[in-house]
Amino acid sequence: MTVSGWHCRVCAASVDIATPLSWRCPAAGDDRHHVLALVDDDAVAPMVHDHNPFVAFRERLAWDAFAAAHGMSAAAREAMVREADAQVAQVAGTGFVFTPFARADALSDALGFSAAGGVWVKDETHNVAGSHKARHLFTILLHLLTVERVGLAPWTAAGQRPALAIASCGNAALAASTLAASVEWPIRVFVPVAANPVVVAELHRLGATVVECPRLCADPPGDPCVHRFREAVAAGAVPFSVQGPENAWCLDGGRTIGWEMVAQAPAFDRVFVQVGGGAFAACVAAGLAARGNATRLHAVQTEACAPLQRAWQGSAALGGEAAADPAQQWAELMWPWEHVGASAADGILDDETYDWLPVLEAMRAGGGSPVVVGEADVLQANEVGCRATAIDASHTGTAGLAGLIAMRSEVGKHERVAAIFSGIRR
Ligand SMILES: Cc1ncc(COP(=O)(O)O)c(C=O)c1O
Ligand SMILES: [Zn+2]
Repeated sequence: MTVSGWHCRVCAASVDIATPLSWRCPAAGDDRHHVLALVDDDAVAPMVHDHNPFVAFRERLAWDAFAAAHGMSAAAREAMVREADAQVAQVAGTGFVFTPFARADALSDALGFSAAGGVWVKDETHNVAGSHKARHLFTILLHLLTVERVGLAPWTAAGQRPALAIASCGNAALAASTLAASVEWPIRVFVPVAANPVVVAELHRLGATVVECPRLCADPPGDPCVHRFREAVAAGAVPFSVQGPENAWCLDGGRTIGWEMVAQAPAFDRVFVQVGGGAFAACVAAGLAARGNATRLHAVQTEACAPLQRAWQGSAALGGEAAADPAQQWAELMWPWEHVGASAADGILDDETYDWLPVLEAMRAGGGSPVVVGEADVLQANEVGCRATAIDASHTGTAGLAGLIAMRSEVGKHERVAAIFSGIRR
């Protein structure tokens, strides 16, 4: 799997892998209805045995192809991962390691599975910054460090790094601020007025500049944090984002989770993934594709906010050629959920599924479907899931399991099912 570049899913623009700072489709301008996807050959580079997934799967990463294109040797590329990882470990208390993925026996029993089937849970709660989010951001960081190393950083002459920027007040903000602190890179985190004070305090401790974003009279509709984030990026900040349309390089490192799952367990029949902006499910699916499209992907959203299911149904209703190419119907199929409700799974209440296209296509390819769960399922999943596994995950982190609970009667007891608990309870 050697990555040769990117292509825009919408306008087919292509970007060579050697292009530095290639965050967005070159034709996108202010239009967020473009997104770059990786172009690679179908040969899957073998895994190297190492506890660090960014070393084990290095040759599959776009970041690695970028660094190679600029003349960095394989040894120098591996050394860069290890050095950056050691710096991350100094701040986070852990570097990147394969996270546990095993059959959850008590949970499988509680949900009525047979010994042949069951629920496999991947535990991301002890990953860097307590969730999977840092996986997405680490390849953006490696890209930035490489740009500096090979002398392509436009900011070097001015002697000052541009700030990183992210709009989040949850796990993504914590991951971003942890990685930024590890290399002493300035970061601005755009948070809502009602942000969780525990998270905000941790962001301050990590040295982030936290920018509270009240809605301004002149603001267009949409999240004011996102408006301020985009203004910062327009003024020169680096989009350190976990949304593909803002920075496609987040879709590179996120795949490590799927590759790990393939390496750690025999094939399973279904995977339930909690979906907010969609980058997570897109990357899980892309990683699992290393095994072919044998797994049914179920994207899980709550009744409080379910734009992906609306797009899924809308696309099917179009029929014919239009249904076959949803990228050309972005505006008709995916738009912000009008009245976002409340849920204990508050990390997946993104009003838009920004990375909906690859998630929709992966569900189709494997015969999966979206699942929309009620709040009772969200609460039950967290209660049963955490008790049966002794993993202390948040409600957002166990929301994938809520999808299984909601669909339990349609899942055979001999089936092998996977879920990912991510996001430690705070
Ligand atoms: C623990 C956890 N799981 C899943 C998600 C959803 O990821 P995405 O927004 O990429 O769909 C999030 C996002 O905040 C999260 O914090
Ligand atoms: Zn484009």
